[in-house]
Amino acid sequence: MNKISKIGVLTGGGDCPGLNAVIRAITKKAISIYDIEVYGFLDGFKGLVNNNYIKLDLLRVSGIGHLGGTILGTTNRDNPFEFYSIKNGIEFKSDQSDQAIENMKKLGLDALIVIGGDGSLNIALKFYEKGVNIIGVPKTIDNDLMCTDVTFGFNTAVNTASDAIDKLHTTAESHHRVMILEVMGRYAGWIALHAGISGGADVILIPEIQYEAEYIINKIRSRYEKNKKFSIIVIAEGATGKNQDMAIQKVVDNSHDPIRLGGIGNRLAKEIEELTDIETRVTVLGHLQRGGSPVPYDRILSTRYGVAAVKSVVDQKYGNMVSLQGTEIVNIPITEAVKDIKRVEPNSHLVESARSLGISFGDR
Ligand code: F6P
Repeated sequence: MNKISKIGVLTGGGDCPGLNAVIRAITKKAISIYDIEVYGFLDGFKGLVNNNYIKLDLLRVSGIGHLGGTILGTTNRDNPFEFYSIKNGIEFKSDQSDQAIENMKKLGLDALIVIGGDGSLNIALKFYEKGVNIIGVPKTIDNDLMCTDVTFGFNTAVNTASDAIDKLHTTAESHHRVMILEVMGRYAGWIALHAGISGGADVILIPEIQYEAEYIINKIRSRYEKNKKFSIIVIAEGATGKNQDMAIQKVVDNSHDPIRLGGIGNRLAKEIEELTDIETRVTVLGHLQRGGSPVPYDRILSTRYGVAAVKSVVDQKYGNMVSLQGTEIVNIPITEAVKDIKRVEPNSHLVESARSLGISFGDR
């Protein structure tokens, strides 16, 4: 096997607690164990196209493991295969992947580690198919990537959402209100499900189970009859009522995942207030779930992913993503990981456990 001497790393898509811990682990292991130079591209794939990078050394990554965000910057807009530019005031898209590959060659990179979710890993796969030595690291607070038990960042998001439910409980109880907490979760309801169970929500609404307002109101009323004059509803941003569309806040054209969701909580609140006389208030947790320090679980998982990604480069297991399976970190082809989205299984033990406690999913 050829000796690896230089690698690149980038963070793509929405940021996520634990990104810095991955960058730190990659840099430390590469430099200290294998004497490999590490280059970090700035603002995701945009830095790869524009040849915008920094050299990472032990000093640069020292003390960043507990920090949220990413020292490399990120974007969910720039796809080198449909790269957005403006010339003479005219906006256009062009394939800049060859330019990106040229930049990597000039720098003498032997491999590129892409830390990203579904969108970024799809782009990484295209580069792999064009001959670039790619290793993926699974990132997203949504936990909706296939072929890994958990993505890093998810547990931190659940922690934040669960804490928010605890806080909403006390005010909901004092005011005898219905409190709706809208959490992230575009196509999968993992955050809503985990935070809802952990925080003791009365209703959990997720994209995988369509709800009907009538069932939710029945649940609220039955609590009222038992002198529980408040209810907590956790709703994923991608959840929908029966025969309803997703609540889209805006569409960002030059993004590889152009839909920005938001507003489902308010839509449901309106329905509840129209059908009952109970005041219903909405909290949209938004990007608070993505920011801040990673919880210890995510710091450890990120560290393991970073360390494993460097080993995969050294072993030349290109085209793979490091993944958590049980207690082990293994390599899984990126092609498998991006085939579909990992959704909550409506008949799973977790959903059934929630139902056993009386939590409603708004479907019966
Ligand atoms: O994919 C992660 C995620 O946080 C989704 O849950 C959410 O829909 C999306 O990113 C929001 O993206 P943005 O930061 O561009 O609003």
